[in-house]
Amino acid sequence: MSVNIFISGANRGLGLGFVKASLDRGYTVFAGCRNPDKLDELNELEIKFKERLFIISLDPTKLESIQNAFSAVKLKTSKLDILVNNAGMNSKSSGVDPAIHLQIGKLQSEPMLAMFHLNSIAPLIMTREFLELLTASGKGRVINISSWFASLSIPQKGNYTYSASKTALNMLTKILANDTVKFNIIPIVVNPGWMKTDMGGKNANLEPIDSAKSILEFSENLKIEDAGKFFNYDGSEHPW
Ligand SMILES: NC(=O)c1ccc[n+]([C@@H]2O[C@H](COP(=O)([O-])OP(=O)(O)OC[C@H]3O[C@@H](n4cnc5c(N)ncnc54)[C@H](OP(=O)(O)O)[C@@H]3O)[C@@H](O)[C@H]2O)c1
Repeated sequence: MSVNIFISGANRGLGLGFVKASLDRGYTVFAGCRNPDKLDELNELEIKFKERLFIISLDPTKLESIQNAFSAVKLKTSKLDILVNNAGMNSKSSGVDPAIHLQIGKLQSEPMLAMFHLNSIAPLIMTREFLELLTASGKGRVINISSWFASLSIPQKGNYTYSASKTALNMLTKILANDTVKFNIIPIVVNPGWMKTDMGGKNANLEPIDSAKSILEFSENLKIEDAGKFFNYDGSEHPW
C-alpha cells in the first residue's frame, strides 16, 4: 500500500525538497501551503503527478485552517503514515526587524511569541489534529524539523527566539512521544543540517532535497523505541 505523507511549508526550501524526495519514493503527497495561489514549482509538479500530489491550504498557526486541511486529506485517504512539521521561521524571515529576536535591548514579546507559535506549538497541534489518520497508519511517524540551534550542549549566542523555540519543540516532541506510543505513532525531532534555502542562504553546504531524502530514508526504519529522539538528517543521534 502507498505511503501517505503530509508536509507543512511545502512550497519552497526544505518543504519542497520533501515533496520531491517523497514523489521519488513513490509516496502520495499532501503539500500544505499557506498561499496555494503562488506556488510556481509545486503547481508544475501537481500537474505532472496529479494522481498522487495534492496541494492543501494550511496555515499551521490557525486551528480552523488545520482542521480544514485534515478534512481535505480525509476526503482522499483513510490513513496518514508520515507528518512532516517543516514550516518555520527565524529572525531574518519573521517579517520584523531581526534585532527584535537577537538583541537583548530590542527583544519584543509579541513577535517572539509569534515565532514560538509557528516553530514550537503548531507542530504539536498539527499532530493532535491529525491523530486519527496517523493512528490508522499502524506505524505513524511525526517528523518535527528542529535545528542544531535547539541544542543545550552546543554553545549558543544571540539567537534568542529561534534557538529557544526549537528547544521548546524538542521538549514538546519528547513529551508528546509518551502519549502517542500507545497508538504506535513515533514522533521525532530532526536537525536537517545547513541547507541552501531562503533561510539557510547560498553558502550552506547541503541541498534541501538531499537532506529530505536522507531523513525519509532513515525514517522508514524507525522503531517505537526511537519515539521522542533527536536525530541528525543522516540518522545519527543529535546531542540534546
Ligand atoms: N535552512 C537551514 O539551513 C535550516 C537549518 C536548520 C533548520 N531549518 C528548519 O527547516 C525548516 C524549513 O526551513 P527552510 O530553510 O526551508 O526555510 P524557508 O526557505 O524560509 O521556508 C520556510 C517555509 O515555512 C513557511 N512559513 C514561514 N513562515 C510561516 C508562517 N508564519 N506561517 C506559515 N508558514 C510559514 C514558508 O511559507 P511561505 O512561503 O508562505 O512563507 C515556507 O514554506 C524550518 O523549520 C527551519 O527552522 C532550516
